[in-house]
Amino acid sequence: MQLIKRTKRLSKNKYNIFIACDTTSLSEAKKIIKQTKHKQLNIGYKFGLEFFNSKNGRNFISKLPIASTVWLDLKLMDIPNTVASTIKSLQDLKHVKYLTIHASGGYEMMKAAKQAARETNKRLKVLAVTVLTSFSEQSLKLTGHTKKIKQIVVEQATLAKQAGIDGIVCSGHEATLVKKICKRMQIITPGIRLPSESKHDQKRVMTPIQAFNNGATGIVIGRSITKGNIKNNIKKLISALQ
Ligand code: C5P
Repeated sequence: MQLIKRTKRLSKNKYNIFIACDTTSLSEAKKIIKQTKHKQLNIGYKFGLEFFNSKNGRNFISKLPIASTVWLDLKLMDIPNTVASTIKSLQDLKHVKYLTIHASGGYEMMKAAKQAARETNKRLKVLAVTVLTSFSEQSLKLTGHTKKIKQIVVEQATLAKQAGIDGIVCSGHEATLVKKICKRMQIITPGIRLPSESKHDQKRVMTPIQAFNNGATGIVIGRSITKGNIKNNIKKLISALQ
């Protein structure tokens, strides 16, 4: 009898994957976009300050196809008026779907950001970044914080919800707690590593499947996919999700 090896198909809509296009090179960004496309994955692209501030980065983002899911990870934090004005300056980037601000900017700043986003681009969703995944309890304490990371994330997520923010960025370790507060909001987790991979500068890491099981509605993944053989890395990601 012939054995037929079946690979389980992923339910595409179940797994929203944001690829961090952390580069200053246009050709590198194009390569990442081209090689990460996969029919079994719901892929979006995240561009941070590194790419946005590069010579041709902003222009490239403005010309991406309208159907693509684009996340501008600017992690804004300033006084409310400055954040609102900055968001309005992005008016020409019509198809940007997500924009990040720091939850530690506070209620007034988040409220002003959401209002500015509404006025700028109806499609734009504002995500509040809580404690960065590169912090450990110890390194956060050195910045003057006395509360535990989970407690800070819960308080910031609560504030973000009250300010009308659309989604929360937190590590997979806090996703279950955040889900209880932000039931219908997006919960997106960076600090994602494939099993037994290097953490690099990240501290609060998790595998993709653990993060989704903890309630993440989407994950952000950068170096694990974009460094080395991208197509092979995507295959590894798919098998880590099965
Ligand atoms: O390469 P790696 O998977 O660690 O990249 C993570 C990406 O997610 C980076 O672009 C980083 O800026 C972003 N990010 C993060 N932690 C947050 C928010 C965003 O690592 N809390």
